[in-house]
Amino acid sequence: MLSDLCGIIGIVVANKNTQYSPGTMVYRGLLRLEYRGYDSAGVASICDNKLVVLKGKGRIIDLERKLGFSKICGSTVIGHTRWATHGAPSDINAHPHTDCSNRFAVVHNGIIQNYLDLKKSLISKGHVFRSDTDTEVVAHLVEDYYNVLNSVYDSFKQAVKLLEGSYALLLISIHEPDKIFFAKKDSPLIIGLGNGFNVLASDIPALLEYTKRIITVRDGWIGYISGNSVYIEDFDGNIIDWSKYVRIINWSIGDAVKAGYPHYMLKEIHEQPRALKDTFYGVSKDENIARVVDLILDAEKVFITGAGTSFHASYYFALASNILAGVMVYPFIASEFESYAPVVSDRDLLIVVSQSGETMDALKALRAFKERGAKIVAVSNVVDSAIPRESDIAIYTRAGPEIGVAATKTFTTQTLALAWVAVALARSSGRIGEGEVREYFDILGNASKLASETISITEYAAKRLSEWLHRVNSAYYLSRWIGVPVAMEGALKLKEIAYIHAESYPAGESKHGPIALVEEDFPVIFVVPNNEEVEKLLLGNIKEMKARGAVIIGVAPEESSLIDEMDYVFTVPRTHWLLTPITHTPPQQLLAYYTAVRKGYDPDKPRNLAKTVTVE
Ligand code: M6R
Repeated sequence: MLSDLCGIIGIVVANKNTQYSPGTMVYRGLLRLEYRGYDSAGVASICDNKLVVLKGKGRIIDLERKLGFSKICGSTVIGHTRWATHGAPSDINAHPHTDCSNRFAVVHNGIIQNYLDLKKSLISKGHVFRSDTDTEVVAHLVEDYYNVLNSVYDSFKQAVKLLEGSYALLLISIHEPDKIFFAKKDSPLIIGLGNGFNVLASDIPALLEYTKRIITVRDGWIGYISGNSVYIEDFDGNIIDWSKYVRIINWSIGDAVKAGYPHYMLKEIHEQPRALKDTFYGVSKDENIARVVDLILDAEKVFITGAGTSFHASYYFALASNILAGVMVYPFIASEFESYAPVVSDRDLLIVVSQSGETMDALKALRAFKERGAKIVAVSNVVDSAIPRESDIAIYTRAGPEIGVAATKTFTTQTLALAWVAVALARSSGRIGEGEVREYFDILGNASKLASETISITEYAAKRLSEWLHRVNSAYYLSRWIGVPVAMEGALKLKEIAYIHAESYPAGESKHGPIALVEEDFPVIFVVPNNEEVEKLLLGNIKEMKARGAVIIGVAPEESSLIDEMDYVFTVPRTHWLLTPITHTPPQQLLAYYTAVRKGYDPDKPRNLAKTVTVE
């Protein structure tokens, strides 16, 4: 089966005086969707009552040169970036997809699970399919209904009723050339309200250049936009008063461009001081923190979950709340929710961490726990995204849009927000008094400055070390205690963008197996948190690695007793252990970044990965 993790955009222009032509608006939007990961792209519009489709495999910029996406005529244009998880990407499988008679064109993000059954039945009625995708069935279904109903919207509604799975769908038709029809279930979709035009897109960066007035389309909504109107109803036919859902977003287009940096990832690493400052300002004033603390203390069992980097932030919170507040929190990887759901009841609580707020694994965990009556808290970077919407309460980081596929500023802001929750929890559980809370407020309030220092003192060292590291095939990232999730995050960065096998585990585990792999020149990165006892234990782990010829690379606080034991050191500011992710993560991000660049890879678009994983 071919399934997609894609980006979609559609624009209808009523007033031709927009700064750009509709084709250019879609093309520029597609470039902003690139970060989601893609292998092919395409656009479609209606010109002189005919459907025009331009699409192919390859980079948008090359397809623009070859096919001229931006020059497509017509005032109603849809576009798509496709990311295939199964099967070969190809010109034919690229979206948009059309029906037999070239009257309808569709772009889609998600998976139509029952597409094979639908396809079989359409083929038996004489429909001819060109691609292997699940999406093409939608175009043929609409065509089939249109032949009977003679109304595009009614046919679209009937077609959508038959679909099982997840979808954000856009449809255009020669029969109503001034509209884009849309439907949404479990895949993200946003409407941007313009002056004389309206836009639909998978996410905010794609429409940020055109408008800041947006509506987040909810699951089960279906409707259409024209250049000066919006119509929405739910799947039961109730008309939605969408004016209640309009929000003004405060992200600027500057947040979504490279601003002189060679890559988004490097820009986003350098944005951490700003992102941390904004996040701390936000959470330290957020009344929801006290409510979340009450929910945690009232719950019988507390779980925390996320995927990838967001799992590392979750793991960090579980350790911080154990250590600081004496409150037991169970961390688990979101896709493993089925192993935990059986013990969940309505007395329990689940915290779901997701920067995008749209990750399907995390959403499924949320729904499974909710079904059993558990309360849900979301920690997200995107206001109004699916996970916060489906939660009882949400806490937001303020990292701004993150375009690089590798999470950077969203990890440090997640951990800072969660550190503040841990402090509030320690206060409410009686572990610390008001005076200490004020001290912690000052400590966490210093995160922005510390991140800035860390970045400036370690960037050159990261660049230099990458000259050696880019030649290795494998590395270990070890730590203990609060450093473990930070080391795990370092390993994930190296793996995902520099394609070097990197494994992370608590350092005490070495002698239980992993040390067997260590030989001359094997790199072992030690993350050393600011804690004397932990340093003592790590000394033994460093020595056992050195004895086998490992190259020891340390991320250690100034004046650490372990510095002399290391072959290469990133010295970071010495501060409270709670800030370990803030001081120790940036050098690891930079090391992965420069290693990827040294190997000739594009760190913003790692192979096989998409920014937001909206499918299981
Ligand atoms: O948007 P989310 O935080 O839910 O995304 C979770 C993961 O997909 C994400 O952190 C992924 O692991 C990144 N590529 C890590 O850099």
